[in-house]
Amino acid sequence: MAAPTPVGTAKLEIDGVVHELPVVIGSQGERAIDISRLRAETGYITLDDGYGNTGSCVSDITYIDGENGILRYRGIAIEDLAEKRSSFVETAWLLMFGKLPNEEERTRFAALLSDNAALHHDMNKHFDAFPANGHPMAIMSSMINAMGTFHRPRIVDDETFLLAAARLLSRVRSIAAASYKASIGEPLIYPRPDLSYVRNLLHMMFSVPYNEFEPSHEASRALNLFFVLHADHEQNCSTSTVRMVASSKANLYAACSAGVSALWGPLHGGANMEVIQMLQRIQADGTSIPDIINQVKDKKSGVKLMGFGHRVYRNFDPRAKILKKAADDLLESMHVNDPLLPLAKELEEAALADDYFVERKLYPNVDFYSGIILRALGIPLDMFTVMFAIGRTPGWIANWKEVNDNPEQRIYRPRQIYTGAPDQLWVPRSQR
Ligand code: SDX
Repeated sequence: MAAPTPVGTAKLEIDGVVHELPVVIGSQGERAIDISRLRAETGYITLDDGYGNTGSCVSDITYIDGENGILRYRGIAIEDLAEKRSSFVETAWLLMFGKLPNEEERTRFAALLSDNAALHHDMNKHFDAFPANGHPMAIMSSMINAMGTFHRPRIVDDETFLLAAARLLSRVRSIAAASYKASIGEPLIYPRPDLSYVRNLLHMMFSVPYNEFEPSHEASRALNLFFVLHADHEQNCSTSTVRMVASSKANLYAACSAGVSALWGPLHGGANMEVIQMLQRIQADGTSIPDIINQVKDKKSGVKLMGFGHRVYRNFDPRAKILKKAADDLLESMHVNDPLLPLAKELEEAALADDYFVERKLYPNVDFYSGIILRALGIPLDMFTVMFAIGRTPGWIANWKEVNDNPEQRIYRPRQIYTGAPDQLWVPRSQR
């Protein structure tokens, strides 16, 4: 991983003393004040609730320019990956190894994914033990961690890393499909070695022993695009969680299991479910768009426009633009008429014309239109965030690798400002 370039110093005056802190610049011009020595030199720490102004790491993997709506995986713009119809498998290789795979690498990786698609037989028994209505994100997180009990991933070089990564990337599909089958009381469907990554997932989810599901070309292409667009996103909440866990030298599966848990939250990956539920409520209640907008603007309502807003994108989320068009194209090709799509567009148009959203730079994010695509594919609502997790797995794996490849990596251990009780004596219960 390349180090940022020193470009001078920043002066900080504390208690009459001027301290010079190094200023560094990244490859795309992002500047940072390096505070690694701040506490040692001044006794002070910084405070930044939510890390909105704090760079937790240096990374070569993904670049976001939030002001200009730019997202690049290892320097390649997602618009390019989308237009060239890059496969999710080669996008995963790009994120993990820093370059698109050549024919030999691609063939080898595809074979590893195919050979490692089936779960350990004893893992399948776990699905009988989960309640049928258990949330699939809880199952996904549990089963990824459980993989570490069946395959102790001793990663010592690129070869052992590649096998562990292929196992995880392949089996997140099998876990997702198995949790779906268990939830609807249908038998587990085994992966087929002749199917592509995406077609195999749809096969495992929607085939039954007596009837093979054949996804359309458009459906497979739409889900592939969905996964490519979700594959990584710099230091978002779940990826930062993976890096935090990786920094203690926990194994790949433990770290990605933690990433699934962080992604589940409705402010993060859980938003794709919340958007659809929000649109369904609006449709069922017949609430007018202006009334929804007013509810959102009234802080006391506690209503947020789900799928809107982003910590980094202050202009537009490039993924939302691509997904909006992909939703249009897919529904048209499938001759599906989903009333939630025009409703979402109406809501977007009304919000982008309202100062509340414009002033706060709130635009549609990746979750605003993605659920429309999943609905058209017949993916049940409970599985929406699981689909996001499958998409994000290569990014988590790449970030885990970047932490472990860094010989100078230290354990993540932020400081705090304590505001609790001063020194207290223990009091016997009779005197409390
Ligand atoms: C993802 O980080 C990533 O990269 C994440 C992600 C990825 O690929 O990994 O892009 C995926 O998680 C996308 C975000 C999905 N979440 C949602 O759609 C939930 C709705 N959005 C919000 O909760 C919010 O916008 C966040 C969580 C996305 C961002 O939160 P921030 O940066 O902490 O912003 P904030 O809460 O400080 O909001 C600033 C202002 C506030 O108003 P004021 O106090 O200034 O008056 O904007 C308002 C907020 O109330 N606001 C919203 C809003 N989002 C922010 N008001 C109404 N609806 C919203 N959705």
